[in-house]
Amino acid sequence: MADINQTIEQLKSQIDMINLPKHVAIIMDGNGRWAKKRFLPRNFGHQEGMERVIEIVGAASNLGIKHLSLYAFSTENWKRPLEEVQGLMKILVQYIMRELDKLHKNNVKVQIMGDIEKLPKYAKDEVIKTMRTTSQNTGMILNIGLNYGGRDEIIFGIKNLLIDIEMGKINIDDLNETNFSNYLYTKGQPDPDLLIRPSGELRLSNFMLYQIAYTEFCFYDILWPDFTEKHLLLSIIDYQKRNRRFGGI
Ligand code: FPP
Repeated sequence: MADINQTIEQLKSQIDMINLPKHVAIIMDGNGRWAKKRFLPRNFGHQEGMERVIEIVGAASNLGIKHLSLYAFSTENWKRPLEEVQGLMKILVQYIMRELDKLHKNNVKVQIMGDIEKLPKYAKDEVIKTMRTTSQNTGMILNIGLNYGGRDEIIFGIKNLLIDIEMGKINIDDLNETNFSNYLYTKGQPDPDLLIRPSGELRLSNFMLYQIAYTEFCFYDILWPDFTEKHLLLSIIDYQKRNRRFGGI
């Protein structure tokens, strides 16, 4: 029986490497509560959350996960106090500055899910540089949700679809679930097999609504800054025990 007290090697030995989830999605929640518990400003929680992003991206890529999607900033997060929004943007840029070389060396391709036009210019420029630098990489695809909302993504897809219909690139009768997914930010990628949400909240918060139709969920009662490589391994062990039927029997 796998548990958190086992070593990373012990946990890895329980994973069937042939049956890894191709795509893991994570709702990184609980940074604010982590900071509050320590009487620290919320941005300290986001800062510590960034350390976990580094740990989990490295662990997922080393393990051989092909697609990792992280929810970093939602279309609703703009409602937060300006100081927190600015802090989050700075942490994102700090992450890129610290990690870009390593991500590139590890063959990770960084893609953004969401409309980056609304980001402050200095953050948008760094994000574009990161996508350009890593665009030819063939290892893990790291999708970062930035100004991302699942409903917003579906509307973005519909708008582009309507343009293609008008231009005669696609016939409306040929539209199906598979080719519609090519209008989403995750174009060309498989749907998430596994969605992980720490923090104890049992909801989707507008994340990848179209893509998660048959995704397996793992919820954890710990906060994102406490989520380690071992939790990722435990969730994969748990995932591999599930009987996925995709609506069949
Ligand atoms: C949710 O916790 C978390 C966020 C809104 C931000 C996630 C951002 C990071 C982990 C920082 C760095 C990200 C990258 C990609 C480098 P919350 O603030 O809603 O926590 P709470 O529910 O406890 O208040």
